[in-house]
Amino acid sequence: MDRTLVIVKPDAVERGLIGEIITRLERKGLLLVAAELRTIAPAQAKEHYAEHAERPFFVDLVEFFTRSPVVLLVVEGPKDTYAVVRAMIGATNPAEAIPGTIRGDLGIETTENLVHGSDSQESAAREIALFFPDLS
Ligand code: RTP
Ligand code: MG
Repeated sequence: MDRTLVIVKPDAVERGLIGEIITRLERKGLLLVAAELRTIAPAQAKEHYAEHAERPFFVDLVEFFTRSPVVLLVVEGPKDTYAVVRAMIGATNPAEAIPGTIRGDLGIETTENLVHGSDSQESAAREIALFFPDLS
């Protein structure tokens, strides 16, 4: 089985969309193997999004990501789970995300785009270890 990290971002938690997002993942056939509501510290948010450290939106991204709790999820599927989840999430800019995707159905702004999904097998392993160091 193959695991990836999903994060229900602060905007989605604030809007009461935790259930909607988890329901979509479960209906797809993915299994939850870890789930926790947690407020992320700025240092950990910066580590998570380290690839974007030099981008102009980085400060706004870290501020947004740490302003209120997120839901951290480890989900499991048979194969290429990160890609299955990324397809369900949709394009980074919700205004351009295809209807039927989470961002396409539920969002409209780029920073506040509801959900994160690891973008590769390597990212999934790194991010799961970052947020769930005790998960075997
Ligand atoms: P994520 O990492 O959160 O799953 O999103 P992603 O792969 O679709 O997009 P990525 O390029 O990794 O960007 C990470 C997050 O930074 C914010 N962002 N803001 N204002 C902007 O131009 C801009 N670009 C990206 C978004 O919250 C995006 O999800
Ligand atoms: Mg990304």
